[in-house]
Amino acid sequence: MSIHQNTTKKITTHRLQEMKQRGEKISMLTAYDYSMAKIVDEAGIDIILVGDSASNVMAGNETTLPMKLDDMIYHATSVVRAVNRALVVVDMPFGTYQGNSKEALSSAIRIMKESGGHSIKMEGGREIKESIERILTAGIPVMGHLGLTPQSIFKFGTYTVRATEESEAQRLIEDALLLQEYGCFGIVLEKIPAELAKMVSERLHIPTIGIGAGKDTDGQVLVLHDMLGINKEFKPRFLRRYADLYAVMLGAVQNYVADVKEGSFPNENECY
Ligand code: KIV
Repeated sequence: MSIHQNTTKKITTHRLQEMKQRGEKISMLTAYDYSMAKIVDEAGIDIILVGDSASNVMAGNETTLPMKLDDMIYHATSVVRAVNRALVVVDMPFGTYQGNSKEALSSAIRIMKESGGHSIKMEGGREIKESIERILTAGIPVMGHLGLTPQSIFKFGTYTVRATEESEAQRLIEDALLLQEYGCFGIVLEKIPAELAKMVSERLHIPTIGIGAGKDTDGQVLVLHDMLGINKEFKPRFLRRYADLYAVMLGAVQNYVADVKEGSFPNENECY
């Protein structure tokens, strides 16, 4: 079947807006490769985020800062090949949009052209106004990201809950309204008090997607490797584990090693 005959109703930024209007929650997960993205898309996820958390869970780095534009394009290209329905959002990595808006636009264009992703995500508020607006003029949908912004970890020093102080909460509300005004189609709210996330979500007409931001955002996002229990070390309060794949995979590989060692693999049915 050619892609032009594909009848799947794809998720678009407009459909996300409609979902918010009718109170339908939006589901979002990360994925970084073809095989995982295929499962996540088939399961009916609305948004797949090719997050720069690939730096942590795929590459084993402590922070997201080392991620390069070429790395993000590689991961996004693999994900896009697998996806039939979900909207694919690709993170702009650290250092590719903070410098100036011209550089931001050329980074975003490379992501869209080379990976086939459907939109990009950037961390920050008013300080990246020019970059957001310039990218939007090229017709590229932009998702915002406020609260805990891991690309600024060295400025804050910790991964603790953000915007617990009145002044920081006020600034976050203002930034959310500004991102909406600039034209973002949605905003990720990471690790902020649930009451604040509720207030922001009620004030915006674009959807909010929370991670560690309580139940009243318009949708939820988790890092796939965390919710599948592949990544054992990361145990924040907001994380619900839906599987213990670390144990399942460890057991499978241990069984394989044992079978090879004792000569029971392959058996006669597994030979030509
Ligand atoms: O990179 C990422 O996975 C993210 C999510 C935590 C929202 O930005």
